[in-house]
Amino acid sequence: MSVNQIIQENKDRFLNELLDLLRIPSVSADPKFKEDVFKAAEFVKESLEKAGADVVEICETPGYPIVYGEKIIDPNLPTVLVYGHYDVQPADPYELWDSPPFEPVIKKTANHPEGAIFARGSADDKGQFYMHVKAFEAMMAAGDLPCNVKFMIEGEEEVGSDNLEGFVLANKEKLKSDVILISDTHMISMQDPSITVGLRGLTYMEVEVTGPNRDLHSGTYGGAVANPINVLAKMIGSLKDENEHITIPGFYDKVQELTAEQRSRLNEAPFELEEYKAKLEVDEVHGEKGYTTIERVGIRPTLDVNGIWGGYIGEGAKTVLPSKAYAKISMRLVPDQDWKEIAKLFEDHFRSLAPKSVKVKVKSHHGGSPAVVSDTSIGYKAAEAAMEETFGKRPIPTREGGSIPIVALFQKELGSDPILFGFGLDTDALHSPNEHYGVQNYFIGIETIAAFFRYFRQMSQS
Ligand code: BES
Ligand code: MN
Ligand code: MN
Repeated sequence: MSVNQIIQENKDRFLNELLDLLRIPSVSADPKFKEDVFKAAEFVKESLEKAGADVVEICETPGYPIVYGEKIIDPNLPTVLVYGHYDVQPADPYELWDSPPFEPVIKKTANHPEGAIFARGSADDKGQFYMHVKAFEAMMAAGDLPCNVKFMIEGEEEVGSDNLEGFVLANKEKLKSDVILISDTHMISMQDPSITVGLRGLTYMEVEVTGPNRDLHSGTYGGAVANPINVLAKMIGSLKDENEHITIPGFYDKVQELTAEQRSRLNEAPFELEEYKAKLEVDEVHGEKGYTTIERVGIRPTLDVNGIWGGYIGEGAKTVLPSKAYAKISMRLVPDQDWKEIAKLFEDHFRSLAPKSVKVKVKSHHGGSPAVVSDTSIGYKAAEAAMEETFGKRPIPTREGGSIPIVALFQKELGSDPILFGFGLDTDALHSPNEHYGVQNYFIGIETIAAFFRYFRQMSQS
C-alpha cells in the first residue's frame, strides 16, 4: 500500500490517538499538572515506538523531559530532525470554554466546515507535532521512509524551553541533521498555503511599583500621597508616543529595516483588512504609524502590557489608596534585536521614569531571539514542492509575530535549516479559550509531511 493509502485507511485511528493525547492536561506552567506532563512524555515515547522508531528515550532534564526518537535507515541518506512540544498553555479561564479543554470534541466552524478538534493544545502543538509521528508511522508501514528521521519533542516550550539549550549543546552529534522540521506556526488559509520564514523574539518583564508602605484610606490620604497604580499607568502610557513608536532609548538601534522591495513583496500576501477587523470585532486596527498590519506583526517590534493589577478588585467599592501596583510587559523583537540587551534598556528606562514618590522593582522573565530562515534552502524548496502537491497551490513565504525562541538556537548550534512547516490557522485560538485545530489541517499536514520526505531526498541527491 502507498503512504497515502495507509493514511486514508487509518484516518479514524490517527484522529482518535490524537484525541487521547489531548486528554492529558500537560500544562507546563502549573505544578498541579506535573504528573500529567510526565504522562504526556510517556505517551509520545510509546507513539514513536509503535510508529517504528528503533531508538526512543525519555531524556530527563532538571525540568520536564525531552522525548528523543530516531529511525536511521542509511547513514548516507539525508536526515530530518523533527522538533515539537507536548506541553500546553494553561486552559484558564475555564468558564470561557464552550466544552471542557481536556475533553476534545469535534465541531464545525466557519473556517473549518469539515470540523475542528476543540481542546487545549490541539493546534499548539500536540495536533501539529503528532502529524509528524503519524506521517512517520505511515511511511514505515508502507516500507517507504525516504530519509532518516530524528524526533526531539520537549515539554517546556510554553515556559521558555529553559532546559533545551543544555540538551542541544550536549547532544550536537546525536541531533545532527540536514534539515529541522517544526510544525508550530500558522499558514494563511487552506486556500492560501504559506511557509513561515520569520518569527519575532521576546523580552518579558515584570514590574512592581510601591508607593506608601501600606494600603491607605483614599479619603484621608488621597491627593497627598502618590498612588502607585496611577503612577504605573502613566509610566506605561509614556512607553509609546502618538505614532505608537516605542520611546525606550536605543530600542530600535538594531532593528533591521527592510528594503522597499522586500516590504512590497511581504504585502503581496493575501490579507483582507475588513475581514480581519470583523473577526476580532474591532472597528479600527491600531499600530505603528507608517506600517501595514502584515508589517506590524511580521517585521516590527512592539510592546504590550499582558497583565496589570493592584488595589481592590473585589465586589462593590472599597475606598483604598493601594501600596503596590504590578504589570507584566512583553516586547516582541525583530532581527537583530538582542532580548537581553532589550531587557536592560527597558529596565534602565523604566526606572528613570519613576517619580521620587515611588520605588520600582523590575525583573526579567524568559525571553528569546527572533529568527529569519532561508527561503532558498533545499529544505524550503522541498517544503514548497510538498505543499504545492497537496494544496494544489505554491505556498508563499510569510513572517509571523509569534516566537519560538529555540529556532535561533538551532540555527546557531545545529547548523541545519529549520523549516517552519505549520498547518494551523491564525483563527485557531492558540493560548485562548476554545483552541481548535482543523481535522482537514491534521490530515493534509500528515500527507504534506510525507511528501516533504520524498522531495527532500530527491532534491538532496540531485
Ligand atoms: N507555537 C507558538 C508560537 C507561534 C504561534 C508562532 C503562532 C507563530 C504563530 C509557541 O508555542 C508559543 O506560544 N510561543 C510563545 C513564546 C514562548 C517563549 C512562551 C509566544 O510566542 O508567546
Ligand atoms: Mn507552540
Ligand atoms: Mn504556545
